[in-house]
Formats: sequence, C-alpha cells, structure tokens
Amino acid sequence: STRRQFLLGGAVAGVGAAAAIGVDYALNRQDTPAPTPTTPMNGDEVVPFFGVHQAGIDTPAQAHGLFLGLDLLATTDREGLTRLLRILTDDAARLTQGTPALADSEPELAMAPARLTVTFGFGPGLVARAAGTGPSWLAPLPAFTVDRLQPEFSDGDLLLQIAGDDPLTVAHAARMLLKDTRSFTSLRWSQNGFRRAYGTERPGTTMRNLFGQVDGTTNPLPGTKGFDAVVWSDDGWLAGGTGAVIRRIRMDLDKWDRLDRSGREASVGRNLVNGAPLTGQKEFDEPDFAATTAIGFPVIPQFAHIRRARGEDGEQIFRRAYNYDERPAGSSVSESGLIFVSFQADVDRQFTPMQRRLDELDLLNEWTTPIGSAVFAVPPGCREGGFIGETLLA
Ligand code: HEM
Repeated sequence: STRRQFLLGGAVAGVGAAAAIGVDYALNRQDTPAPTPTTPMNGDEVVPFFGVHQAGIDTPAQAHGLFLGLDLLATTDREGLTRLLRILTDDAARLTQGTPALADSEPELAMAPARLTVTFGFGPGLVARAAGTGPSWLAPLPAFTVDRLQPEFSDGDLLLQIAGDDPLTVAHAARMLLKDTRSFTSLRWSQNGFRRAYGTERPGTTMRNLFGQVDGTTNPLPGTKGFDAVVWSDDGWLAGGTGAVIRRIRMDLDKWDRLDRSGREASVGRNLVNGAPLTGQKEFDEPDFAATTAIGFPVIPQFAHIRRARGEDGEQIFRRAYNYDERPAGSSVSESGLIFVSFQADVDRQFTPMQRRLDELDLLNEWTTPIGSAVFAVPPGCREGGFIGETLLA
C-alpha cells in the first residue's frame, strides 16, 4: 500500500528499489535501524529502589497506582516469610530499574520502567507471623459512623503498592510479583487507581479527583523537614519507614450532580477553578478561617472539609491518593471514588483524630462513603544485597 511504502521509504533507501517492491514486514523489521529518540523517553525514567526509605512514598505520584492486599497462607512460617520477602525484593529491585525479573515470562515488558516503584507494607498478621512486635497503632482503625466497610477491600497481611507512569509496566510488575507469591500468600484485594496520564499536565500540578476538585494542595512537601517529621518513623524496626492508611472511599457522583457549584465549593471551602480557598485567589493562598461575610457567617463554613480536616501541629498526614472508576451496578452510571492513601509516622496520633473529626462533621460525608480500610506498617528501605523487612526478620 502507499502508506506502507511511505513508512518504509527511509528504511529501504539503502536496499534499492527492487527490494522495496517485494519487501515484507519481516524484512522491514530486520533492516530498519532502531529509531533514535531526540528527547529522552518517559519509559526510560527510573526511580532508585535501594535507599534509607522505600520508594513510592516521597516519589512524585505516578499516573497509575495498583494496590494489592495479600494474606499469608497458614503454611507460611517465619522462614517462609523471609524467603518470600527476599524474592519479592529481588523482583522489585530489578523491575523498577527496567531489568526483567528472574525467569521473567515477558522480559520485553520490563524494558520501560516508566518510574515504576514497588512499596511493601506489613499488616498486623504479618508482624505476628514474624514473631515481632508492631507499633501500637498497627491494627484496624476504630469504627467510624460513616463507614460501610466491605471485607473484600479491607485489612490484609501484606500490601504491595505498585505505581508507575505506564499501565502495561504496572500490570507486568504486578503479575511477576504475584506469581512469586503463589506458594506463600493468597490475593485478598486489588484496587486499581489512576491520576492524569503522563504528559497531560505539567509535572507538579496538584491532582484532581472525580468530583473535579483540586485534591492534595495542603500536603507536606517531600524533601522538607516538615515532611520528614510527618512521615518517617524512628520506632524500632520501623525506623526509616512509615505507617500507611488505605481507605476506599466511594464518591456518589450521581448525587454530587444535584449540587450546584457554590454548594460544591462550600462543602470543601475551596473553589473549583484552581482550588483556592474561598478566602483567597490562588491555590496556595493560606485559608483565612476567621473571615466572615457581611452578615457574619464564616466564609469557609463550619462544616467545610478543609476546616474539619486541618490538623493541630503534629497531627498532619501526607496524602497520596488515586482515583478509581469501576463498572457501575444497577441503574447508576458510575461506581467511582478515591483510593485514599496517607502516610504518617504514627497512625493513632496523626490520622485517627482527623478521621474522627471528619466523622463528626464534614459536609463531604453527604457524597462520600468509606467502603474499605486497611492499615500497614511500611518498613524502611534496604541496601543492595539486603531485603525489605530485614529489620523485622533478620
Ligand atoms: C483537603 C477532598 C477524604 C484529609 C481536601 C481538599 C479536597 C479534599 C478537595 C482540599 C484541597 C487539599 O488541600 O487537598 C477529599 C475527598 C475525600 C477526602 C473527595 C473522600 C473521598 C479525606 C480523608 C481525610 C482527609 C478521609 C483524612 C482522614 C484531608 C486533609 C486536607 C484535605 C488533612 C487538608 C486540610 C487543610 O487544608 O489543612 N480533601 N478528601 N480527606 N483532606 Fe480530604
């Protein structure tokens, strides 16, 4: 076809016209030199695996996040657990650097790491199996009145957070890791989340959730002392690690549709155009919670999410959420929400008081329902030759 000949034009130039007439796709593949990219490709970008902290926490959030909750089989003892974590560490160390896993069944899929990270978290059951002592907060959260938790999205012994800027890379990494868990664990839950595709927005743009809100503005900034204080634990085997809370929060988009724009903005206390507080102009303007309207009402209402969520000093969390959008049931046209993910050194001290305040009063509760909840201790990183979990198991 004309199109094919056009595409082959450059490649066959040195082969001659006779070859061009009878050329087939196989020949073309052999004779075409690999294209030389003029700009570095996103697929080549790598996040270091080894280090003091695990990757995937202070890493700028990638476009795709897959969260897997695994349960240890009854037959997996402390020794088996150690073996499992050594194998998974090896897989993650390779795959995140664009190297196939050992016995990778599709090694070509490992070649584009696209900022792949694999982050491990330990549930209470895993720490018990290791015959270790977990932090006091490592347990299911207290029950909240807003909760409608489903076991199929809750708890678990081992968390794998697999994130990357390419969905095929993430799927391949998940498959390789899961294959190696087969004789040690069973899959309890799996949650697939997304943000904007890579390249859609400038790096550093705060994400938007499916309500259309700018979500993540007031968040500790990785690389600052404030972030370190909020996130990293200094407690025993968890030192250099952190605590993870993962809550699947359903967002009722059909009900949200019935709310007008000013109601939507009042529910959070920020506008929808750029996420500025109702008392400011720009996204990062400091909200003025004392400001009142001409007739004396607070500009940021008492029930507004940001007023209720704002933590006292020492009560902050670091949020790193993903959106989800699944097949709707019945007559509804959406089954959507937020895979709420927060990292904090001490879940009891930092997360729980905040969630308690939101449980008591937060207008957003009208449209949101937590349907899954899990808490994990995220161990520190490791050096080459070590493994994730060695501070608990070695
Ligand atoms: C702020 C949405 C659940 C804690 C915000 C903001 C939005 C938002 C739009 C304002 C921009 C920002 O600073 O990020 C949501 C939605 C949720 C949800 C749609 C559920 C689907 C939660 C939960 C918590 C939480 C469960 C913690 C228990 C916070 C905090 C802030 C915040 C700490 C910053 C408050 C401040 O300005 O100091 N959220 N959120 N959010 N949210 Fe949420």
